[in-house]
Amino acid sequence: MIQNKLLHGADYNPEQWLKYPEILAQDIEIMKKANMNCVSLNIFGWSVLEPQEGEYHFEHLDRVMDALGEAGIMVALSTPSGAMPHWLTNKYPEVLQTKADRRRNLPGERQNFCYTSPLYRKKVASMNRLLAERYANHKALMAWHISNEYANNSNEGECHCEMCQAAFRTWLKEKYGDLETLNETWWSNFWSHTYTDWDQIQSPSSRGESRTHGLDLDWHRFVTHQTLEFCKLEQEPLKKVNPNVPITVNLMETFKPLNYDEFAPYMDVISYDSYPEWHMHEHDKTPAVCAAFNYNTMRSLKGQNFLLMESTPSIVNWKPRNVGKRPGMHMLSSMQAVAHGSDSVIYFQFRGGRGAVEKFHGTVIGHDQSTENRVFKQVAEIGTRLEGLNDLLKDTTVKSEVAMIFDWENWWALETANALDNDISYVQNMFRYYAPIWEMGINTDMIPASRDLSPYKVVIAPLQYAYSEKYAKKVEAFVCGGGIYVGTYWSGVTNENDLCYLGATPGHLTEVFGLVRSETDCISPYTDVKIKYEGKSYQCKDIVERFEVKGATVIGTYEDKFYPDFPAMTEHQYHDGTSYFIGADVDSACLEQLYERVFAKAGIQNGLGIALPTGVTVSTRSGEKEIFFVQNFNEDAVEISLNKAYIIAKTGEQVDKLVLDRYDCKILH
Ligand code: GLA
Ligand code: ZN
Repeated sequence: MIQNKLLHGADYNPEQWLKYPEILAQDIEIMKKANMNCVSLNIFGWSVLEPQEGEYHFEHLDRVMDALGEAGIMVALSTPSGAMPHWLTNKYPEVLQTKADRRRNLPGERQNFCYTSPLYRKKVASMNRLLAERYANHKALMAWHISNEYANNSNEGECHCEMCQAAFRTWLKEKYGDLETLNETWWSNFWSHTYTDWDQIQSPSSRGESRTHGLDLDWHRFVTHQTLEFCKLEQEPLKKVNPNVPITVNLMETFKPLNYDEFAPYMDVISYDSYPEWHMHEHDKTPAVCAAFNYNTMRSLKGQNFLLMESTPSIVNWKPRNVGKRPGMHMLSSMQAVAHGSDSVIYFQFRGGRGAVEKFHGTVIGHDQSTENRVFKQVAEIGTRLEGLNDLLKDTTVKSEVAMIFDWENWWALETANALDNDISYVQNMFRYYAPIWEMGINTDMIPASRDLSPYKVVIAPLQYAYSEKYAKKVEAFVCGGGIYVGTYWSGVTNENDLCYLGATPGHLTEVFGLVRSETDCISPYTDVKIKYEGKSYQCKDIVERFEVKGATVIGTYEDKFYPDFPAMTEHQYHDGTSYFIGADVDSACLEQLYERVFAKAGIQNGLGIALPTGVTVSTRSGEKEIFFVQNFNEDAVEISLNKAYIIAKTGEQVDKLVLDRYDCKILH
């Protein structure tokens, strides 16, 4: 926890209100009334701080920082690189991003900068140095908030300008040393595209090379690398003045363009912007699963608690339909983040501007300026509840015995494989594989393939299409040592460069699984393929595999004219551990059955040790005590019998039965 407190706050943009100087004092009053203890500040503040090149005005920010400091409101102070002032883009067009079609963007928007531009780097570094010199020891400062959501624009943050092309080539030279190795790794003889000079290399573009998978992968890696280099450069002057102020970078949900795992070591605390689609699905457990998956990912990035840096108190304005949170949902969705390891509930944004694109986004204080409306009251309630939880949650975090492999490199390779199902979505599949675990209420970490597996009892790796031999060796050691590994169809097909494994697959894991893949197929919507498992039939869709069993025990078979009675799911005892293989895209009911078997074998249950009604989950934070967050995402109340007595955190009441109202979250210990 930062300063031993759960944080409750909002993005605060007083620089939009320079013509309304009276609001600062009013806002601080309102923050107090909303039980807020922090804000994130200055995210888009550049043009006020430096209205003309080299002409600095920190007076306004000074006033705001001082007033917040006086009021005991802590500040995550942002470096303002996310959006550029017009004088800058006008005078130095090189700072603007160039799209894959090699056209340079026009000024405006945000995250529209070239991360390679030496000029932009210099400007940002000097702005950050000035901020550090002025505020690094300010009493209001609790953290540095670096830029804003790197790469969040229609360009996905990539810049294809000549400076970036040159930097890409340098990066490739360092990686490969010579062109022969690069050509071999990219398989570039295909369509006669062998490179004979480094200068021939161009970033991927739909106007040119767009389907050389090795190039695509390296480009993704380079974009991450270059963005991270930029991020490190932003941090340098801040750390130099005061190394004790924690640094955070606000990340986005299941964001494909940047490999956040690479960023994690360069952040003291992970922060995350979360906007689930409440009430837009048949059941709210659908968005709840996605949100929980994302929170688990964020927590797992550093294996420590994170900050919910942005969320909406009510609605957003950028989805096709922007539905408000129904009564109870704001509390539940906020507590859900805390349940999964967030030490904060922070909103975008505190006060809504009068104009421009975000004027109708949800706010703590709306255009009506009222602190009497439903949204404001709900916000204030969260503040009270968080304050009440400070002691209980101190030094607690979520510990998991189960991990799912969620790997950016595999994501990049899988979705551009040009194979079978070209609409395949890694993330949607991950949600699907996680959903039954969420329903069971079992704490789960989402980790990349590079991570140590030994802290876990069970590792589930859906659609691990591309992995290295090193990864396979690690999995083998994990299973040999007693771990349980669950793999699926379309795994171990290619290596880390997306080059197909030759010989028996899943690459380097055939012995661990006790089988060899013989065929992978994509089923037509008119073909009915089912799996028979433990006496019941389950539907398959999209991808199915046939394989030859070499030692594994068949636990599920296909029911279909084309695949009659062929093995579909297996279990294999390998040294001290067990592997499972799921041969097809099975439905969640089937996954649930299988997971029950897996978790029973591993001796894993949820924190309460009971089966939960559908739409209800529990996540456990532990420290000295175990704290259980029981969350009901149903529109109706549910009753749960507990197997022993627990204390309800809020009231101190002892219970052995729990009644959860609709969208209720009860915290037990
Ligand atoms: C993102 C941005 C914010 C704001 C919100 C709106 O998370 O970081 O500046 O635009 O979206 O939901
Ligand atoms: Zn560039």
